[in-house]
Amino acid sequence: MGKDVIVACDFSSAEATFAFLDKFTGRKPFVKIGMELYYAEGPEIVRQIKARGHKIFLDLKLHDIPNTVKKAMAVLSRLDVDICNLHAAGTTAMMQAALEGLTRPDGTRPLLIAVTQLTSTDQQAMEKDLLIHEPIDQVVMHYAKTAADAGLDGVVCSPLESQKVHDVCGKGFLTVTPGIRFADGDKGDQKRVMTPADAKAIGSDYIVVGRPITAAEDPVAAYERCIREFVD
Ligand code: C5P
Repeated sequence: MGKDVIVACDFSSAEATFAFLDKFTGRKPFVKIGMELYYAEGPEIVRQIKARGHKIFLDLKLHDIPNTVKKAMAVLSRLDVDICNLHAAGTTAMMQAALEGLTRPDGTRPLLIAVTQLTSTDQQAMEKDLLIHEPIDQVVMHYAKTAADAGLDGVVCSPLESQKVHDVCGKGFLTVTPGIRFADGDKGDQKRVMTPADAKAIGSDYIVVGRPITAAEDPVAAYERCIREFVD
């Protein structure tokens, strides 16, 4: 898979999701399904979106004992998603078990990427709640390296971290980056943002874009603008 724009379908029902996806009569966007939609609608929502011809990033961020994650990943693999993810904090053993669970009898599997330190966690919370005292950017890079060493395909990270992740983990290690805003757009609650064009220049492999597309007056035009800036 090459560079692409992944649209975060942060809707709470299948009805709202399909009303949104029905607008796309040309190119079918790569779709991110998160916890809210998946827990509301179950695996059927994945099958239905897949049947409409979309690629799917299932963003469920698994984190449990290795055996449980392995078995859960086997279920997601049968759902035929294209990308799924977990928390690198679950350790190397958990990540390797996840890869085993994901791998189908024919050797194929969805891409597996890791969440490093959530962007909602800052230095203070990390030190106080998790007793991790290293600088947060070093912690993020350490998690990325651990994920790469475990055999994962990439990480979710800020576009501002894409270059460093590639330097540390290699060019082929995927960076999937939310926090994208148009130059003339509203930042909303995202603090550190980048335009699709800048994310391309810095080397992000996939951008994840939610509200700049889902809340746009013309979502298809906003999506096409992302494609023009990031892919073409
Ligand atoms: O609407 P917006 O473009 O901010 O949506 C970004 C998407 O990426 C949301 O689904 C959000 O949960 C997700 N995300 C994020 N920052 C992270 C990890 C995931 O914004 N660090």
